[in-house]
Amino acid sequence: MKSEEIKSEKINYKKTFRLLLSMAKPYKTSFAKAFAYLIISTALAMLSPIIIRHIIDYAIASRNYPLLLLEISIYALVTVLFLIANYAMYIRLIKIGQNITTDLKNKMFAHMLSLDMDYFAKNPVGKLTARIEADTARIYDLFTETALMIVKDIMMFFGVFIIMFYHSPALTLVLLPLFPVIMGITWLFSKKSAPSFVKVRRLTSEISGYLTEMINSIKIVQGFSMEELSARRLDRLNREKFAAEFKAEYLMVLFFMTILLLQPLSTSAVFGFGGFWTLKGKITVGILVMFLMYLDSLFEPVFRFSEHISIVQKSFSAGQRIDMILSLRPSIQDVKKSRLAAKDTICPFPGAQGAAMVTETPTVFPDGVNGLRKGIEFKNVWMKYEENSDWVLKDVSCFIEKGKTFAIVGETGGGKTTLINVLLRFYNYQKGEIFLDDIPLKKINIASLRSLFGLVQQDMYLFPGTILDNLKIMDFSVPDAKIYDAIDKMELNEFFRKHSLKKKIVEKGANISTGEKQIISLLRAMILNQPFLILDEATAYVDPYTERTLTRALKRISEDKTLIVIAHRLSTIEAADRITFISNGRILEEGVHDELLKKGGLYSKYYKIQFGDRQ
Ligand SMILES: Nc1ncnc2c1ncn2[C@@H]1O[C@H](COP(=O)(O)OP(=O)(O)OP(=O)(O)O)[C@@H](O)[C@H]1O
Ligand SMILES: [Mg+2]
Repeated sequence: MKSEEIKSEKINYKKTFRLLLSMAKPYKTSFAKAFAYLIISTALAMLSPIIIRHIIDYAIASRNYPLLLLEISIYALVTVLFLIANYAMYIRLIKIGQNITTDLKNKMFAHMLSLDMDYFAKNPVGKLTARIEADTARIYDLFTETALMIVKDIMMFFGVFIIMFYHSPALTLVLLPLFPVIMGITWLFSKKSAPSFVKVRRLTSEISGYLTEMINSIKIVQGFSMEELSARRLDRLNREKFAAEFKAEYLMVLFFMTILLLQPLSTSAVFGFGGFWTLKGKITVGILVMFLMYLDSLFEPVFRFSEHISIVQKSFSAGQRIDMILSLRPSIQDVKKSRLAAKDTICPFPGAQGAAMVTETPTVFPDGVNGLRKGIEFKNVWMKYEENSDWVLKDVSCFIEKGKTFAIVGETGGGKTTLINVLLRFYNYQKGEIFLDDIPLKKINIASLRSLFGLVQQDMYLFPGTILDNLKIMDFSVPDAKIYDAIDKMELNEFFRKHSLKKKIVEKGANISTGEKQIISLLRAMILNQPFLILDEATAYVDPYTERTLTRALKRISEDKTLIVIAHRLSTIEAADRITFISNGRILEEGVHDELLKKGGLYSKYYKIQFGDRQ
């Protein structure tokens, strides 16, 4: 998978524009309506000075009271209509902006969920949530504040110029040299301030990432008395950001002051030349006043221009980051239909055959799994997490027989969890093959493959909500009775007398013990009732007495299930049908408990360390 880091701050405007356009497309009718209101409001805004000019030059000059009254009424009406059109346009734009950002958030979230585990291993949570929240907020700004406003400002700028030129070409020419100067100043300031703005953006995301990281690991921060150190680092980042922000803002203030200076200068020029020409009778007083009013309309777009540029830059760099996420393709995907030969479409499970023929993808169906005749076979599997790193699984071959208990033991970091990671296709293996009966794993539909397995992972996660919510998290339609039944069968009545099913679990299960978390996770997997149950150190944190009760209950109610148990505490797996000892990515020993003990190899060494020489 390609890295989604932006190597340079250079924005690919064309590509990002295409994404933004595709997001805006569903709302093109709304955009068209907003655009219509925009044209109306711009036209009305340009009309007002013309009416004023008429009032001065015609109604007042000719002392025509009815005309004066009529024109004042028209002026008032135009102002009201302008406000209504503006209001209607803004409301439309806000709705469009909200719709687009909601779509975008949904799209990004759904897409992120489809990405490889690898992606999440490399990108911290803080960064990902910031992407979704902050970057979509920039897109909102673009669609509500800038996209159409740029068009409005350009229309206004040129429209006003044309009207001015029509009324007095000479006076318009007086103003003309002003604009190259303004453009030059704008260009200079945005060029000078751009690096600081880029720096501010980078530091803002760094600070939010740092905050998330520190608050997430608050126990370690406090446990190691890192509060002061963490605060100091944050202070440094904030100061750096402050300096960059100050420089950028200082330049912006300077920019506005320069432009503000130009405004009275141009007003003086219009008054000077215009006043002179009025006295000479070349232009009317009305035209002079009209020009003065239009001057504001000329400066307004100029003021806003730098703001527009900054929003466009910010939103396009956000759009680029979003586009990068959306164009990431998971390396683990279902096999393409067309690439499957007809012989691959045989489904091992009765009842699923028909469906398999239609989709052309061999699919394992949960209710058809009873048809799994043999089991899961690893054949010379090699796996590494990164291209340039060492092999983590080395030539692993083993057979997990249907309906039996298969145990995996071995040293820390030996590759036990990795074995599960490749079986469930969280990560790909590079060499060798895994078969479910005779079907290569990579040709099995991923969703239906995973739905075969109940999984209790080593790093458990409970969702915020009640214990009951957590037990039902995979399927909210599970009736409560089924849950009570499972509690009963797992002999957990005592545990749940202490913990009400209504007990609220806070984020990351911070208000419950690790062993308790394990018990809930185990029960959650049991309730799902899948044909395969994988327990990766699932009872490592519960007390030995509870562990024995759970193991016994598990064995009793999982008679028809295939259990894959990973454990360091060998007492849990003594009775397994097959025990595999894995060390440094290789399977070194295999057999049943007694055999392995007799063999006197690594397993027996581990066993003796745990239990002494008692046999
Ligand atoms: N996402 C990952 N990216 C890169 N390397 C990884 C990743 N996950 C695990 N590893 C490495 O792969 C090796 C095997 O890890 P694995 O989690 O399979 O060990 P394990 O046998 O389950 O150990 P433990 O008993 O501690 O749970 C370790 O050296 C580990 O550092
Ligand atoms: Mg592990």
